[in-house]
Amino acid sequence: MAGVWRKLVVWGIGIVSAAALAAAPALWVALEKDGLHDPANPAIKLLQQPAEALAPLPRDTAGNQVRWVQALDSGAIAPRTNLLPETKVRVLDQDIIVSKFGSMPAVKFPHRQHTLWLDCSNCHNALFKDKIGANKFSMVAILNGEQCGLCHGAVAFPLTECNRCHSVPNESLRKPAAAP
Ligand code: HEC
Ligand code: HEC
Ligand code: HEC
Repeated sequence: MAGVWRKLVVWGIGIVSAAALAAAPALWVALEKDGLHDPANPAIKLLQQPAEALAPLPRDTAGNQVRWVQALDSGAIAPRTNLLPETKVRVLDQDIIVSKFGSMPAVKFPHRQHTLWLDCSNCHNALFKDKIGANKFSMVAILNGEQCGLCHGAVAFPLTECNRCHSVPNESLRKPAAAP
């Protein structure tokens, strides 16, 4: 990992990444100490503490310490999929390999894990064109909070989890027999 970091810094994006990767708290901060809630307000006792709500869920080592896809898949949480009965829930089970054969393992974008939470229109076509290879991805843009970085590091697992996106060894793609 040290080599990769050196490369990013050499690219001149070290400053950007330092801000984007600001370390997450190791534990859940109590509401009265989070700097957002008024600790003097008696109503604070009516609110559920993050630790109480999140501790029973599958743990992660990053972000807000919950492995959300696992929480959903295991049934630990069962959020409502729609408010209006006429809303059509669309789940797409398709992985797309965004491959450049660079210094990192290739990126696998999983549609299923996204469409369990999001609608197609959250990404298509304003953010990403719905055509393989039609988008020009860049790690610099992502670290700047664009593309995947619009959500990752904000509302989804943080960008420090390199291997969760860069999950496919380049060698496995080079062999025609193992192509996806
Ligand atoms: C949210 C998903 C995501 C995360 C997390 C992520 N990346 Fe990327 N990264 C991408 C995408 C998408 C590309 C563009 C892929 C391409 O075109 O090859 C990319 C491209 C890159 C590239 C240029 C292509 C290459 O392989 O040389 C490097 C270097 C890179 N990322 C390093 C990192 C490092 C280091 C981390 C962790 C600190 C990281 N990335 C975390 C999605 C991610
Ligand atoms: C979180 C963002 C996101 C969501 C939500 C999303 N997609 Fe995608 N979609 C992508 C990305 C990224 C690609 C890859 C584009 C590329 O390779 O340049 C893609 C590619 C596609 C493609 C091209 C596949 C091909 O074989 O050419 C289609 C079709 C598509 N999406 C349809 C959908 C549909 C239908 C939904 C809803 C059920 C959906 N997407 C939801 C991000 C998303
Ligand atoms: C519109 C918001 C949004 C965008 C844009 C987005 N993601 Fe995600 N992504 C999510 C959410 C929400 C989850 C589920 C929560 C989590 O895992 O933190 C998720 C989960 C994932 C997972 C699955 C993690 C697991 O545990 O299985 C991967 C891999 C991933 N994203 C990669 C990407 C890549 C690569 C891109 C860019 C091409 C991208 N995402 C763009 C919101 C987004």
